[in-house]
Amino acid sequence: MDDLAAAQQLYDTVADSYARLLPDASFEAAEDLAMIARFTALLPSDARVLDAGCGTGRMQPVLRELLPAHRATGADLSEEMLRHARAAHPGTRFDRAPLAALPYRDGSLDGVLAWYSIIDTAPAALDAVFAEFRRVLTNDGVLLLGFQHGSGERRRSEAYGHAVELRAHLHSVEKVSFALEQAGFTPVEGFVRPARSGEAQDQGFVLVRRA
Ligand SMILES: C[S@@+](CC[C@H](N)C(=O)[O-])C[C@H]1O[C@@H](n2cnc3c(N)ncnc32)[C@H](O)[C@@H]1O
Repeated sequence: MDDLAAAQQLYDTVADSYARLLPDASFEAAEDLAMIARFTALLPSDARVLDAGCGTGRMQPVLRELLPAHRATGADLSEEMLRHARAAHPGTRFDRAPLAALPYRDGSLDGVLAWYSIIDTAPAALDAVFAEFRRVLTNDGVLLLGFQHGSGERRRSEAYGHAVELRAHLHSVEKVSFALEQAGFTPVEGFVRPARSGEAQDQGFVLVRRA
């Protein structure tokens, strides 16, 4: 099974538990949320913002609080995760789509938030995702990524209370930043937050603008 099919199967299986165990952004560290605030601060008040790999839509209230007038859209490949997102946020458009083939016109978005959604994508497949983010963003559009920082893969046989084959890809802030520059983005900020207790990995964040 390829990464995309495996991710879809994984998140379809765990969606109900994910929504129950991680209902909001209260697990996020203050530094992580501050990064999202710096992302929204670069956007116009009525920005069109894509939550790319939105899952259950858990980050929508964070975006809404920081940028009340923004126009939100979400995309994800898991229909079960999207079912939760649509139920929780009936006024928002959510599309079932892979990150590398988004159903939006060129230059139609001001911001893209990819919050822990590249963790199921192998490093070699990131270029296609970053090219797609660049395609859908306006000229000076802004992109923020959050992910587990490191290298190689993290395998687990349990996730959110389910016996599953979880294979997550770790990405380094340096390599993601380099790949984004190659894809036509200008760096704004990147940092690694050390793992807190209960976290297996350090966390990486990269904020860039479309060059
Ligand atoms: C760890 S969850 C994060 C969800 C949400 N951003 C959050 O912070 O709660 C990863 C999400 O990304 C989605 N995803 C992973 N790879 C994807 C891809 N290539 N295309 C679209 N969605 C993807 C999964 O279906 C899942 O809902």
